[in-house]
Amino acid sequence: MPESDHMAISGTTGVLGLMGNPVRHTLSPLIHNTLSEELDRDLKYLPFPVEEDVPSAVRGAYLLGIQGMNVTIPHKKAVIEALVSLDTAAEMIGAVNTLVRVDGGFKGYNTDMPGLGRALRQKGVSLAGRQVVILGAGGASRAVCALALSEGAEKVYILNRSLEKAVELAEHFNRCCGEIRMMPLSAADYAFVPKRPSVFFQCTSLGLHEGDGLLIDDDRFYCMAEFGYDLVYNPAETPFLKKLKGLGIPCENGLSMLLQQGIIAYELWTGTVISDELGMLVKNKLERRLYGDNLILVGYMGSGKSTTGRMVAGRKGMSFLDMDAAIEEEAGITIREIFEREGEQGFRDRETAFLKKLSVVNTVIATGGGVVLRKENRELLRKCGRVVLLSATEETTFQRVKNDKNRPLLDASGERELKEKIRRMLENREAAYLAAADHVVVTDGRSADSIADELQDILA
Ligand code: S3P
Repeated sequence: MPESDHMAISGTTGVLGLMGNPVRHTLSPLIHNTLSEELDRDLKYLPFPVEEDVPSAVRGAYLLGIQGMNVTIPHKKAVIEALVSLDTAAEMIGAVNTLVRVDGGFKGYNTDMPGLGRALRQKGVSLAGRQVVILGAGGASRAVCALALSEGAEKVYILNRSLEKAVELAEHFNRCCGEIRMMPLSAADYAFVPKRPSVFFQCTSLGLHEGDGLLIDDDRFYCMAEFGYDLVYNPAETPFLKKLKGLGIPCENGLSMLLQQGIIAYELWTGTVISDELGMLVKNKLERRLYGDNLILVGYMGSGKSTTGRMVAGRKGMSFLDMDAAIEEEAGITIREIFEREGEQGFRDRETAFLKKLSVVNTVIATGGGVVLRKENRELLRKCGRVVLLSATEETTFQRVKNDKNRPLLDASGERELKEKIRRMLENREAAYLAAADHVVVTDGRSADSIADELQDILA
């Protein structure tokens, strides 16, 4: 029941896409289509599995009028020969992940490197004059080497299982900068890295699979790290990040780089600058897709949002958030006191402010019964996860709330007045509840357990 239709495709819709093999698990459509929706741009981003003959695919994309492409494994190198021009950073890295449409074909860029740069800047991490330690010498390490050089890192130690690959990478980048700043080492020789504060980058695929360990397992080595970045983002916590967290060292996974490389590509394609706020919105969407979506329960007072929400959270190992309780905690006073001092308007403003800064994953959120009244709130809720309406008839609601004295909007002098209040409010709110919800669960005559079962099915 979306309140606006972002999905329409017409004769003027522009096409963006990703070329690679495989592309099944890509998160790029989520990034770029969210950006287009939020910015109201008539652009759609699609996955294109390309097994071979990359030059023909690039030519075909150009002839089909495709406005921009991303390129992923295994074609980041091979695509270069199919381009009409190449950005200098992409040339130094030797890999292209973004194609920008120009006269007669596409120009190649690498947004992995500046994407990582932006992700680090947002964390307040600078590589200028620093010692950098890179674990791994594969494709991902190339963007990190290039960034370290371009930001003026003093020395870069590349540690890899096979020394040859580390040497090859170091020689390439030393040639690029005309100095010896990259130092290749076999992982077994990690003790040769000078004991100085360093920024660490985990660029191997270790962590992607269950049971993966560390390339180097020695706390004394990791103690040098002032900050650690793992290019892996799924799972959220790799063995490398667990190790650093255990040692109290600040660290981050690769999701911010994935996001920023996408944002820079989108900026190149469209000439639009993406705000940090929009970036955060996309990041939260990515996190929910990867680490677990939120379940948002809306419905009138007494519909069972808190009881069933807690139950589902407990069963599924999700977090639970009671929005009213969180607002009370933030305000330092009860909801009744907020209503008395600031009126209903003041309380609604607090609800909107709360939703605007809400950024959680894998959480069941029980909302207050009136949160859906504002269109702005309905939109904020839908952006935050799957919204389920717990519905109940007037009679069920009356039975559930008649002895409750905590809800200022249900203050009444007797049962008749209370029933009348409930009837009027339900009638006034019905459209808002339905507009907010992706799913409706009828709760009349049902146990909390059976409602929780249905909510679990919705999440599955
Ligand atoms: C309200 C419902 C309450 C609380 C406030 C206003 C409403 O939450 O937010 O008293 O307008 O319906 P519950 O639905 O959790 O009781």
